[in-house]
Amino acid sequence: FHVDWDIVTAEKAGYDHFMLKEIHEQPKAYRDTMGSRLDPSGKKVVLNEVGMTPQQIKAIRHVHIVACGTAYHAGLVGKSVIEKLARIPVETDVASEYRYRAPIITPETLVIVVSQSGETADTLAALREAKRCGARVLAITNVVGSSVAREADDVITTWAGPEIAVASTKAYTSQLIAFYLLGLYLAQTLGSQDDAYIAEVIAELKELPEKVERILAQSEAIKNVAEQIATHDNLFFIGRGLDYAVALEGSLKLKEISYIHSEAYAAGELKHGTLALIEEGIPVIALATQEDLFEKTVSNIKEVTARGAHVFGIHSEGHYELAKAVDEVFAIPATLPLLTPALSVVPLQLLSYYASLARGNDVDKPRNLAKSVTVE
Ligand code: AGP
Repeated sequence: FHVDWDIVTAEKAGYDHFMLKEIHEQPKAYRDTMGSRLDPSGKKVVLNEVGMTPQQIKAIRHVHIVACGTAYHAGLVGKSVIEKLARIPVETDVASEYRYRAPIITPETLVIVVSQSGETADTLAALREAKRCGARVLAITNVVGSSVAREADDVITTWAGPEIAVASTKAYTSQLIAFYLLGLYLAQTLGSQDDAYIAEVIAELKELPEKVERILAQSEAIKNVAEQIATHDNLFFIGRGLDYAVALEGSLKLKEISYIHSEAYAAGELKHGTLALIEEGIPVIALATQEDLFEKTVSNIKEVTARGAHVFGIHSEGHYELAKAVDEVFAIPATLPLLTPALSVVPLQLLSYYASLARGNDVDKPRNLAKSVTVE
């Protein structure tokens, strides 16, 4: 009796690619990252790894979030989360730009660096610059003992487990969870939100893993769309607010592994130039999950359908009227608007995966890219 196996196949645990395995590991990554950081009372977040005293937190005047690639996209969501929950102004920067724009960093600045690997050269350089200017640095990283983790003052570890695929999936969503926890922690320390709202956000956070499982169970529907878009060379992602931040991540993921050119646009910005590129049959992925922006997004969708675009819409359960405005729809489970990125990105990850597969690409190791970028 002879069994053929190799270590890589074994590590993929029955999945064809690491990326697909990692997409499916997200419910566990969410649960592990929240873990004991949610107080059993369900009323508060416990972040023992953040060593700042309440006085130090109250002294923060501005927050800078600095990262690269997908981690930067998590930082864009982080900006909205911290501004909404803690009411502190936040700027998010690409690490390779940050140092060279002479940012105003003072001891009252909290600099948050986000890095899956904790070894990205530009992010590490930004961290060092922030420390040189006297700022406190908090790292969100997936690798315990990484350079970023060692040099930061405080570290929130994302418990996503090793991420092997070059395209980041579970690390990104775990970074979002880390931002939700941090935002709530700052809010409860500053008293910027009432207790009932904090408890409501925590209750909704706990439901996210099961909601991701429901999305993953509908992978086949996404695969069908992916096979259609795989035949195109250009497409657009549009969205407003947090949907725009997720659109940027969806577009990067698609470019990275399918090699299809795509652009992510703030839906309201299209008419300022980009609409000229919309022509008959071009695919547009439209995110419309933000309750207060839904009608405005639908108006923007009509601008592209009127010019012949083929629109694939993503909405939250309940907003079924989107089906009338687009060609195909996908519903994500309903949650608080602030938390939707942790759900809406999942169909976009699957879309990239299946488009890459349909094009016969090396999904886990896309051309020209490395998992960890240790040069500036
Ligand atoms: C994500 O799919 C990319 N491979 C890339 O953008 C990555 O997120 C970026 O290089 C940052 O890496 P880090 O999180 O390890 O710092």
